[in-house]
This record gives sequence, C-alpha cells and structure tokens, in this order.
Amino acid sequence: MKVLLILGFLMLSIFFVSSYELCGPRSCMNGYFCASDYSASICRPEAQAYTIIQVNITNEGAWPDSAQFKGTIRNICGVRIRKIVLSVSNKDFPILKTSAIWNARYSKEFEEISLPDYADGIPPNDELYQFGFILKNSNTPKIKIKSIRF
Ligand SMILES: *[C@@H]1O[C@H](CO)[C@@H](O)[C@H](O)[C@H]1NC(C)=O
Repeated sequence: MKVLLILGFLMLSIFFVSSYELCGPRSCMNGYFCASDYSASICRPEAQAYTIIQVNITNEGAWPDSAQFKGTIRNICGVRIRKIVLSVSNKDFPILKTSAIWNARYSKEFEEISLPDYADGIPPNDELYQFGFILKNSNTPKIKIKSIRF
C-alpha cells in the first residue's frame, strides 16, 4: 500500500512538474535519481527508487585475478519499466575487459550500467532480471540508481 502511494505520488509529480524539468541519469544531484516516462521526468530522492525496484549484487565466485558477480533486479512497483541506469565508480568497478558484462551495458566514460539489454523492459512482479559481470577484484561494487524510465 505504501509503495503504491509513493508510486502514485511519483507519477503525479512526473505529470505536473513534467514540462518544466527534464532530467536523465546524469542530471540529478547526488542522492537523487531521475524518474521519467514518455513525456516527462523529475528528480526524486534515491531512497524512493528502492520502492520501485530491488537491486542486489552477489559474488558468484572469486579467482586469484578476478571475481564474477550476479546482479538481480525485481520490479516491485506494478508498472512496466523500460530502462534503468545504475552508476558505479570506475575505481570501484575494475571490469576485467569491456566484454566481461552480460544482460547489461557498461559505459566506462559515464561510469554507468544500463539495462535491460536484451529484453523489452522489465515487467512488474515477474521473474528476477539477472545480469552479470567480472571484475579484477572481489570487492562487491557499490551501485546507485540514477534513472528509471517507465
Ligand atoms: C535481495 O536480497 C534480499 C535479502 O536477501 C531478498 O529478500 C530480495 O528478494 C532480493 N531481491 C532481489 C531482486 O534479488
């Protein structure tokens, strides 16, 4: 119920503030993410993003020179999500090589991971969306949500 209220508020905010404020994954202040749909967008506190999606990163196995991680995302907001952009810092995300990521795209330049990569959005309350990557060390990277597009 609380989630629905927050989401409803978010959608209304997008609707009303829309024409004034356009944002993307790189335009909101630290601690904020950009929520958008086809016609409008707004920066909201990052904590609200976690009422829309759950994101977990788990270590799947480590070797002397690398470690494999699995990311899982669940859409818990009841509305289909078209695109999610997560941010990482290059220091924290020493990818083994540019191809060492799957079901997501990594931009070293923008320090961003965007997904889904193959699917047509992420439907609500469905199976987990999974992605994976290999880093040069086994420290679980910190990931922030920078934008969610409906
Ligand atoms: C993330 O981890 C928590 C705690 O283990 C679990 O309850 C939740 O279902 C997980 N969500 C996803 C999307 O993996």
